[in-house]
Amino acid sequence: MGPPGSGKGTQGERLQEELRLPYYATGDILRAAVRDETELGRSAKEYMDRGDLVPDEVIVGAIGERIDSSEAADGFILDGFPRTVPQAEALDEKLTELGRDLTAVLLIDASDEEVVRRLGGRRTCVENGHVFHVEFNPPAKEGVCDVDGSELIVRDDDEPEVIRHRLETYHEKTEPLIEFYDGRSLLRRIDGAAAPDAVAEELRRMLATLKLEADEAI
Ligand code: AP5
Repeated sequence: MGPPGSGKGTQGERLQEELRLPYYATGDILRAAVRDETELGRSAKEYMDRGDLVPDEVIVGAIGERIDSSEAADGFILDGFPRTVPQAEALDEKLTELGRDLTAVLLIDASDEEVVRRLGGRRTCVENGHVFHVEFNPPAKEGVCDVDGSELIVRDDDEPEVIRHRLETYHEKTEPLIEFYDGRSLLRRIDGAAAPDAVAEELRRMLATLKLEADEAI
């Protein structure tokens, strides 16, 4: 978890490659649904364009199906979910039903000022959501995704007034989860203001420690 633009997607892509686990990013799932004009996409679009969260029941159903699937049997990475206390409670319920636990909640933190700077220069691949930045992580060829060659666009919700609203929504609805997960000793904080490689290294160290602790507990 983390505020918009803190680097969840950037780090999530790397983690997925390293851990070889299914990666469920709710923003990507919803944008694909909007693009494909599915029922999920039609119900989510207006909320996303405004920078509001989509209703809990809409997103809980979409994630529940995925973590209950056979591909997620060895674990999974969630990005952008849960984002409200009711979503976190629904996740708890689902995991209990499946007899599973969360390993950790990784909070990538960044200031509002940094978020505005980053999202203003973000470019996103239209096909698969790969993320670039005109200054901090430019693609080799302007406007073209390095990974799959598709077009890079400015997301509709990266307009300045929508960014401000997304930040307000994060502070109001998602920040309470910090206490929620801290109280369960699951929260690990990462300074998202560092460069992407340094953040990735910190994440790697943190996951190695968690694995060591889990092995010792057996
Ligand atoms: P979502 O797509 O999840 O948006 P978000 O949380 O606002 O996060 P972002 O994707 O904007 O940022 P990020 O943290 O992934 O940063 P990134 O790596 O791209 O959700 C979109 C919408 O869907 C929501 O507003 C909501 O409507 C809906 N939604 C999604 N999940 C939901 C849920 N659970 N419940 C209800 N509604 C939901 O990086 C940003 C930029 O910075 C990039 O250009 C990148 O290159 C650059 N960058 C990254 N790291 C660094 C660094 N360390 N230094 C410098 N630049 C960096």
